[in-house]
Amino acid sequence: MINFREHFPVGSRKCFSAAASALPLKSMLEARDLSKTYTSDGVDYEALKAVDLSIGQGDCLAIVGKSGSGKSTLMHLLACLDAPTKGRVFIDGNDTSSLSERSKNTLRNEKFGFVFQQFFLNGRDTVFENVVLPMRIRGASSSQINAETTAALSAVGLEDKINKKAKDLSGGEKQRVCIARALVGGPQIIFADEPTGNLDSNTGAAVENLLFDLNREKGITLVVVTHDDELARRCNRVIEMKDGRIVAEHRMEATVR
Ligand SMILES: Nc1ncnc2c1ncn2[C@@H]1O[C@H](COP(=O)(O)OP(=O)(O)O)[C@@H](O)[C@H]1O
Ligand SMILES: [Mg+2]
Repeated sequence: MINFREHFPVGSRKCFSAAASALPLKSMLEARDLSKTYTSDGVDYEALKAVDLSIGQGDCLAIVGKSGSGKSTLMHLLACLDAPTKGRVFIDGNDTSSLSERSKNTLRNEKFGFVFQQFFLNGRDTVFENVVLPMRIRGASSSQINAETTAALSAVGLEDKINKKAKDLSGGEKQRVCIARALVGGPQIIFADEPTGNLDSNTGAAVENLLFDLNREKGITLVVVTHDDELARRCNRVIEMKDGRIVAEHRMEATVR
């Protein structure tokens, strides 16, 4: 696992403990006592154990840890894609546990964007149709749909691929389409689960740059699950998971991106 103090000696890029540098960011996403037990073939497995976490507006947070440590489980619960066995998730101070499925769908659609390792694109549909999906679900007008989709595709440099079938794109282009789809409609938070996991290192770096630009330039909060140390080092906050718990937290200052 990353030794951040070693990688970020004071004087170059600085690394501080969470307690030493708690930033006064407005908390937009908060997990309290969050636990998740999966039951498979009658056997319980505690994937997440009493996790507390507060994510501020504009944060750039990496969740790191070995495979099976609970990273994706935590992200899915934070994003209301799954319900905790115990504990609560607050968004802008509101408890999400009392929301109906329909309200959770609306909340995800309006506030969150998602980027996954496996892309989840409809290959036979065009780039436009893939990107537009969140806007269609929202019932946006066609002029709004066209304007937002064009803007999102231009932000990822894919305006010229708008009418191509998603299946005909390269891996890097597919992930950029996913980022455009996450971006359309102006999310407050982008959740990315191993976004560079299926990409070669150069293509992965380009995708990373895009995500960090969105965080820095548009102020979109970024939550990235990764086991890529290089990617984690570029975030301003890193939490490390082991056996379903947060075992360490690091904050970087003056991180060079
Ligand atoms: N739907 C599920 N049913 C049963 N066990 C699961 C399920 N999802 C994840 N797990 C188990 O929970 C643990 C944590 O999984 P996950 O959060 O996906 O880890 P990570 O993303 O860190 O690799 C793993 O041991 C995994 O096998
Ligand atoms: Mg995972």
